[in-house]
Amino acid sequence: MSRPPRTAVPATVDDFKRAAAAAALDHVPDGTVVGVGTGSTADHFIDLLGARRDRIAGAVASSERTAQRLAAVGIAVLDLNAVDTLPVYVDGADEIDPQLAMIKGGGGALTREKIVAAVARRFVCIADAGKRVDVLGRFPLPVEVIPMARAHVARCLTALGARPVWREGVVTDNGNVILDAHALSITAPVALEGEIDAIAGVVTVGLFARRGADVALLGGPDGVVTLTRAGQADVVATKLS
Ligand code: 5RP
Repeated sequence: MSRPPRTAVPATVDDFKRAAAAAALDHVPDGTVVGVGTGSTADHFIDLLGARRDRIAGAVASSERTAQRLAAVGIAVLDLNAVDTLPVYVDGADEIDPQLAMIKGGGGALTREKIVAAVARRFVCIADAGKRVDVLGRFPLPVEVIPMARAHVARCLTALGARPVWREGVVTDNGNVILDAHALSITAPVALEGEIDAIAGVVTVGLFARRGADVALLGGPDGVVTLTRAGQADVVATKLS
């Protein structure tokens, strides 16, 4: 009796995120503390890291949500102040450009993400390939703001050509609010990061350009593509299983 032909189930964006997260495991040195980001891609990474928790010394979390998930899979969560070296930070992104500058903060964790990234020697960005763009800015740029400065910062962002929208009802882990700056075309991300950071009342802008990623692992239909800042070479590293 002949079997009916198997229909392939198309891979989803979540499959691509998980493939990127799996590829990041190769970037985690044994016996070290790992910096861990926030979001659905980082959640995949946490789950996979949990399966090999005995091989790492613990993790530093970039949000309360991540700390809870790390603890749930049995990974020791360490205070960043108690950690001497952080060889690698693994996190997702909302957009990433060819220089590996990123927009981050869609999940509202941008400030702690930037702090942990600043301490880490290497930033490994994990994302689905749809996050890759030529010019940053189609995704609204998150800006964490001290609550009393919200209107002032919104006016400054408008003066920079953005259309700021208050993410109403959202309070960050640091007790602040978020403005999402729409309608920007970010052709000079390093300069814009400095400009927005300099506005009184801004805690952090979700532009990660001065300290971008060192490597990006982007999952897509053809597997996981590795991008590096040095050579910006593309290598298909892994096939989706
Ligand atoms: C959270 C972030 C995330 O990394 C970003 O929003 C991507 O999220 P996801 O992995 O769910 O696509 O910056 O603040």
